[in-house]
Amino acid sequence: MIKTLLGQVKQYKTASLLTPLFTGLEVLMEVLIPFVTASIIDKGIEAGDMGQVYFYGGLMLVMAFFSLTFAVLAGRYGAKASAGFACNLREAMYENIQTFSFSNIDKYSTAGLVTRMTTDVTNVQNAYQMILRIAVRAPLTLICSMVMCFFINGHLSSIFLAAILVLGAALIFIMQKTTKLFNEVFRRYDDLNASVQENVSAIRVVKAYVREDYEDRKFAGAAQKIYKLFVKAEGLLALNNPVMMLVVYGCILALSWFGAQYIVAGDLTTGELTSMFSYVMSVLMSLMMLSMIFVMISMSTASGARIAEVLNETADLKNPKEPLTEVEDGSIDFNHVSFSYKQGSGEETLHDIDLHIRSGETIGIVGGTGSGKSSLVNLISRLYDVDQGSVCVGGRDVRDYDMEALRDQVAVVLQKNVLFSGTILDNLRWGKEDATEEEAREACRQACADEFISRFPDGYNTWIEQGGTNVSGGQKQRLCIARALLKKPKVLILDDSTSAVDTATDAKIRRSFASEIPGTTKLIIAQRVQSVQDADRILVLDDGKVNGFGTHEELLAENAIYRDIYETQTKGGGDFDEPGSDEAGKDGER
Ligand SMILES: Nc1ncnc2c1ncn2[C@@H]1O[C@H](COP(=O)(O)OP(=O)(O)O)[C@@H](O)[C@H]1O
Ligand SMILES: [Mg+2]
Repeated sequence: MIKTLLGQVKQYKTASLLTPLFTGLEVLMEVLIPFVTASIIDKGIEAGDMGQVYFYGGLMLVMAFFSLTFAVLAGRYGAKASAGFACNLREAMYENIQTFSFSNIDKYSTAGLVTRMTTDVTNVQNAYQMILRIAVRAPLTLICSMVMCFFINGHLSSIFLAAILVLGAALIFIMQKTTKLFNEVFRRYDDLNASVQENVSAIRVVKAYVREDYEDRKFAGAAQKIYKLFVKAEGLLALNNPVMMLVVYGCILALSWFGAQYIVAGDLTTGELTSMFSYVMSVLMSLMMLSMIFVMISMSTASGARIAEVLNETADLKNPKEPLTEVEDGSIDFNHVSFSYKQGSGEETLHDIDLHIRSGETIGIVGGTGSGKSSLVNLISRLYDVDQGSVCVGGRDVRDYDMEALRDQVAVVLQKNVLFSGTILDNLRWGKEDATEEEAREACRQACADEFISRFPDGYNTWIEQGGTNVSGGQKQRLCIARALLKKPKVLILDDSTSAVDTATDAKIRRSFASEIPGTTKLIIAQRVQSVQDADRILVLDDGKVNGFGTHEELLAENAIYRDIYETQTKGGGDFDEPGSDEAGKDGER
């Protein structure tokens, strides 16, 4: 984990090295200053020599100046190193997430990834900065101050050896308790972020179901929990101060007592005693800082591990060694394909699918929710890999193709599709980066999107909000279809992509497909029998198996499921499947 993380320091190595260096120099100055103070008192004041006072006073000023300069430099480099490190971590994570395949993404929740990229990175960044500065500063101050003390008077120094033992024991005790609490806090943050992410992004659903109060309470609960843990942890941490003060004053008392005796006996000068006081303070302060570092490190270890996990995740799907870049035609073959989302779990989503689709055919796919329709088509553009058997496009196994080349030729309008913030034209150009406005218009005409776009005052430059919230469901679906059409693919897959489009427009889109892109193989998943009945062949899926495959008339004559769907829809007039499809037709135009 440490290695993975430190691998991202990269161009900030110099800054990372300069920080402890300057900190070291700063400490050196700080340690020497009390020593000079002793000289001022002993050689100047006590001896009544003003020349010496000026000399050592000047020396002290110069040293103080250097000490400050070093401190500023260390601070700047520390900030640069840690902020740069965090920036690199974020970039590396983002880059790796982009290579994730669908199965990788399934492993992490979106909220989890967001927390990792934000809060967790911030934790590591803070810890890194602390470590660069204080991890050097505290032990160095500790050691130097101790050395100086022993140098001045060995006997007296044993006083604070005892003090260190007392303080150390107390600190370790407090730290152990707080570390546990802080770890708990960070786990709770995850829950909190998940709650925020889920409910803010689904705020419309929350409102539609009037669940605001419930969500409010749920969130308040999570926030309260964190509050309590924090108060507890910080409360314990606050004990540090009185313990520290107790030890400091104890030391000063003991030093004064024994110091006075040494001075009377002539074994110690007043100046030396004054500098001993300063050193005692520095020693105890650095102990304090050391303990803070331990808290910081333990707090960030969990974060570091979570970041490393994302950085070390390797994409499940890889390009073959010598990938094919040309897709011959739009034929699709499923050769005894079995597929499950969690390999080896035994729960197969698709069982032994054997299908052969000719190039240019229009295939309708129907089946209940969860029957595996989306899973089936996602195998064609290799969003997932099969467990057994093979899927071929253009006569070659999809695993032999370069993924980008394959996905350029197999355009999928996913069931859960999204638009991005940007103009309509920007969104369409996801299909083809350098598409001209004329090409985009043509694709929109084929997807029957042109009619509503031209009614917008800004036409193709209309701004789409994040997630496409300012267009209706049916309009969004048509834009997504147009975006896929711009690729001019050999295979076009519509996964329930016209569910929110009214039936008349739906029929119009299908007619335009038949006349405009006759050579493209079209797979249309639909809830409405109307949407598929004029397809060349229709596939009926049931529980991950092929239940029937043939023309509308054939299926009507011999397939019970298909007949059932047809009858409920034509007689009852409703959609057979999920309640969500009730909105079909209503939401089409607004
Ligand atoms: N990303 C996923 N991870 C795990 N299981 C999934 C995933 N997507 C779908 N499933 C499961 O696979 C089955 C088939 O789902 P799906 O292909 O989406 O059905 P359909 O599109 O026909 O409604 C369902 O039981 C569903 O719970
Ligand atoms: Mg589906």
